[in-house]
Amino acid sequence: MDNKKTVLITGMAGFIGHHILEGVLKQTDWNVIGLDSLTYAGNLNKLTDIGPWESQKHRVKFIWHDLKSPISETTNKMIGPVDYIWHLAAESHIDKSLEDAIPFVTNNVLGTANLLEHVKCHQPNLKKFIQFSTDEVYGAAPDGIFYTEDAHLRPSNPYSASKAGADMMAYSFAHAFGIPVIITRCMNVFGERQYPEKFIPKTVKAILENKKVIIHGSESELSSRCWIHARNVADFLIFLMDKGHSKEIYNIKGEERNVLDLANRISQIIKGRPLLKDEIEYIEFHTARPGHDKRYALDGTKAKELGWEAKLSFEESFDKMIKWMVIDQNKRWINL
Ligand SMILES: NC(=O)c1ccc[n+]([C@@H]2O[C@H](COP(=O)([O-])OP(=O)(O)OC[C@H]3O[C@@H](n4cnc5c(N)ncnc54)[C@H](O)[C@@H]3O)[C@@H](O)[C@H]2O)c1
Repeated sequence: MDNKKTVLITGMAGFIGHHILEGVLKQTDWNVIGLDSLTYAGNLNKLTDIGPWESQKHRVKFIWHDLKSPISETTNKMIGPVDYIWHLAAESHIDKSLEDAIPFVTNNVLGTANLLEHVKCHQPNLKKFIQFSTDEVYGAAPDGIFYTEDAHLRPSNPYSASKAGADMMAYSFAHAFGIPVIITRCMNVFGERQYPEKFIPKTVKAILENKKVIIHGSESELSSRCWIHARNVADFLIFLMDKGHSKEIYNIKGEERNVLDLANRISQIIKGRPLLKDEIEYIEFHTARPGHDKRYALDGTKAKELGWEAKLSFEESFDKMIKWMVIDQNKRWINL
């Protein structure tokens, strides 16, 4: 590789990982090393499906490694010195963490510790380390409350607890060893090629197949989340390499919508009408799962004061994504 900057992205074959690869290839001249263990959620075909792949693939190197194990000498040599590390590799599905918490501890907490050990021993010139975390570490937000970065951590399911553990691990390495860690806490990300276990692709699939749309909660107790397109996330991470400060936490805020509004918006785009309210067969309200948080909400002032704002609006990027998902050749991503 040449003298250009290099970013190591863990979890690059996952949903957000491949979008941030696209962002880096489009917006910078950096080289990219993707490190991933290719779990059920990792899929290298995502990388080859992005627009700049064919013309820019010479800038990308892929390394298979499972972060549950320490990074070996051989893998260390393959990685070499890098300028930035963006750590996204994780088990990411809450429902799975309710079935078995242990893989979340090993992949997310131990995995982060193994990566930090690698940095401590082999990356003396690292400029920034992004610990990519989630709004869920703060726990449920009562109506009207938007958590700032100094809010208490009250994770309420094993997934978010493992992310909080990983955040603490990263912060401790920043403090003890001077590793330039930045923690980002991001709300719900949407975008093309998301694994179909997640709410948006699952809902698109149900509507296309005239099946029931599962909504957690009841009509009077709807869950609400904030949503942001993965391209905005990529943009923010690139921005932070210049403007972000080590040992700081930055929330990445999206637009708040309840899940029924979102399902109706998807139906409007696909079928030209919202889900039919009286025809209850189209919606199935599930009692909240264990540890279900009714609402997550973040305050995004800190990122704004740093000079960043999301370029893509929720409405435009959301509608465009749904239209993209239902094109025949793209339906394979919801039928995995
Ligand atoms: N999707 C969201 O809405 C959201 C919101 C906030 C934060 N996050 C965080 O963003 C990150 C990426 O989320 P995603 O939705 O893209 O998840 P994803 O499940 O689509 O991708 C995760 C990737 O990590 C890889 N991976 C898992 N364990 C690994 C290990 N031990 N070693 C190496 N690679 C491993 C998988 O193979 C996969 O490619 C996660 O850290 C998640 O906690 C996601």
